[in-house]
This record gives sequence, structure tokens and C-alpha cells, in this order.
Amino acid sequence: MIIIKTGKEIEIMKKGGHHLAEIVKEVSLKARPDISTAELNELAEAMITRIGARPSFKGYKGYPAAICASVNDEIVHSIPSEEKILKNGDILGLDIGLEYEGMYTDMAVTVPVGKISKQAKRLINVTKKALELGLREVKPGKQIGDISYAIQNYAEANGYNVVRCLVGHGVGKEVHEEPKIPNYGESGTGPILEPGMAIAIEPMVTIGSSEVITDDDGWTARTEDGSLAAHFEVTVAITREGRLVITK
Ligand code: MF3
Ligand code: CO
Repeated sequence: MIIIKTGKEIEIMKKGGHHLAEIVKEVSLKARPDISTAELNELAEAMITRIGARPSFKGYKGYPAAICASVNDEIVHSIPSEEKILKNGDILGLDIGLEYEGMYTDMAVTVPVGKISKQAKRLINVTKKALELGLREVKPGKQIGDISYAIQNYAEANGYNVVRCLVGHGVGKEVHEEPKIPNYGESGTGPILEPGMAIAIEPMVTIGSSEVITDDDGWTARTEDGSLAAHFEVTVAITREGRLVITK
């Protein structure tokens, strides 16, 4: 069942989402060589708590931290660790979620650590653009498959692959709601977008194989061939007029 949010709920999400975007930006700026992902996690958690929100990932299905910090071939859901020290040339996927006044928002970016390779830069740019193109499909009457197709088409036209076993999702009353938002699919298929829906669109794009291995920690999802992956995510609401990006 797809949960339709009231205008008031969307307003709350907008406030929480704005805080979240600021936090993601602040933490991204600290993603420099020699910092551990555990330190980034502490920073994020402190900022989330300071604004009166709750880190929604922490405790979700037993996840132990406030953020996911996925480096290089790690696609998503990598647990922060003291032992994981960022180094020059890494790319870091930073995924953060919060609960603010009872409403959930979700956002992710992939950022360079120091100076990164041309190919890593290109992967980041293509993944970000794929999300923008997906977002452009968001308006009442459009279908989930329109978003999925836009993302897949752009990523593949640029020679990359999209991860299929992990998908975007509805969001707002919970971390994950219906519907699923795959990053592949056909235009003109899937649930129809309606005002009051809120979704998290999150392309995961790889340079090589898009097959996923999950680590023994039960969380970290990485590419099976060790190739680089990038991930961007926004929370967006469908409005009568079109769309409202919540995490900005
Ligand atoms: N943004 C992540 C997702 O949609 C949320 C992860 S929840 C966690 O998959 F528990 F894995 F952190
Ligand atoms: Co998400």
C-alpha cells in the first residue's frame, strides 16, 4: 500500500529534509584523507541530535550506525568503522536518514576524497545526472517505470551498469515504504504517481559488473568484480503542480 501524505506531513518532511541536506553537506566536507568513517558517523549523529531529530538508520533492522559510508567498490550500506580510514583518491558514498517530528527523509551523495581519477569523476557525474533525469519524470500521472527507465537509459548510454537487486522506495512514515523504485525498467509501467506520495530515488551505478556481494557483516553491499560504484539519493514529494525535492 502506498501511503499518501497530508500537506502538513509534507511540510514537516520539508523541514527535516532541509536539515538533512545541510548535514549531508557538512559531513561531505569532512570527507578528506586520514579521517575514519566512524568519525564521520559521530559527526553526523551529533548534528542530527542537535536539531532534535533521530538517526533513522540506527537500529533499523539492527543496523548499528547513523550513516552508511561506502567506499569505492562498496555500493551502499557499509558500516562506519574506526579502521576504515579515507585516503586520497577514494570515492565515498555517504547515505544519511533522519526522523524529524515523526517523518522520515533519506539522502545520499558520492563525494571525492582528495584528488580522484578521471574515471571516478565521470562515474560520479553520470550517476548524479541519472538521478536528475529520473527526477524530471516525477509529476502526477507519470509512472514509476518512467523514472526507472530514465535512470537506466542514461547510465547505460554512458557505458555503465545499474544495480538491480537494490532499489529506491517510498518514504515518510517509515524508512522504507511502498512502492519500490527500481533503477531499471520500462516507461509506461508501474504505479502511477499521485500528489501526496513521497519517494526516495537512488541510482546505484557501477563501472563494471552490477552484481552485488554482501559482506559477512550482513550489510556492506559491494560489486562482485571490485569495480567502482556511485550512489546518489534524494527524497522527493509528488505535488499537484509537479514535484518538491524534500532533501534540499
Ligand atoms: N538509504 C538506505 C536505503 O534506502 C537506508 C539504509 S537503512 C540502513 O537503503 F539500515 F541500512 F542503514
Ligand atoms: Co533509501
